[in-house]
Amino acid sequence: MSWLNRFRSKSKRNDVPDFSGSPLRIGEHLITDVHSHMVPGVDDGSESLAQSMEMIERLVDMGYRQAVITPHIHSDIYPNSIHTLKNPFKKLKEAVAERWPSFKVHLAAEYFMDDHFEHSIGTNELLWFPGLDENGQEVKCVLFEFGFHEPPMNHEHVLFELQMAGYTGVLAHAERYPYWHKMPQEIESLAERGVWITVNAASLAGAYGPEMYRVAKRLIENNIARMICSDAHGMRHMESLDAISKSPAVQHWLHNGKPASANLPVLN
Ligand SMILES: [Fe+2]
Repeated sequence: MSWLNRFRSKSKRNDVPDFSGSPLRIGEHLITDVHSHMVPGVDDGSESLAQSMEMIERLVDMGYRQAVITPHIHSDIYPNSIHTLKNPFKKLKEAVAERWPSFKVHLAAEYFMDDHFEHSIGTNELLWFPGLDENGQEVKCVLFEFGFHEPPMNHEHVLFELQMAGYTGVLAHAERYPYWHKMPQEIESLAERGVWITVNAASLAGAYGPEMYRVAKRLIENNIARMICSDAHGMRHMESLDAISKSPAVQHWLHNGKPASANLPVLN
């Protein structure tokens, strides 16, 4: 029994995901997957080029046209940088170009908000991906995450510095910070200050339990989330993308929320 089915069989409450919608190819609506760990061997994501290619094949099959690949950069656990990532990414990019010439991959990162991240803002070494704002202007997007156990201390200051340096902050999996589950205003205030809010497909599929599901669903229903991402570390996350493609709440958001990932420039 998969973890999705295990979760479904445990709960009968309203916070159980509903997958009763008609099937659709979710990649044709999201176009770009903007958060994944598919550079082999650099973090807790894909372990081999073959595994990465299998994951990308699923994205192609689901109708996606491109992917922003975002290895962890966390000074204590994954001390990555452009220097450690560029060669393994280049090998992946070459393999993808050979097999699916029209599918684009772009290297960015998922920054843990620590002192190293703040330091990186001032150094011109931030890994970013291009986005378009509401006025159609190109912006430089930087994906970041907070710790799961304690609320961030200094994030308002760091986000201000990020904006002053010309970047748009993109918050990874906004539903996965338990200390804010009863304080939705914290996420909303980040959105009001120009941070792009994203949620994970696995949360909407119920993989992290009813609380994460409830918060993620609320973020799409209130149109606060601009993107739904795979955060793919392995094939199990591709299963989540498939599952949520039949969620009526996700389908409503796709048709009314204008996913920002569908409006990215062509990557290179
Ligand atoms: Fe991630």
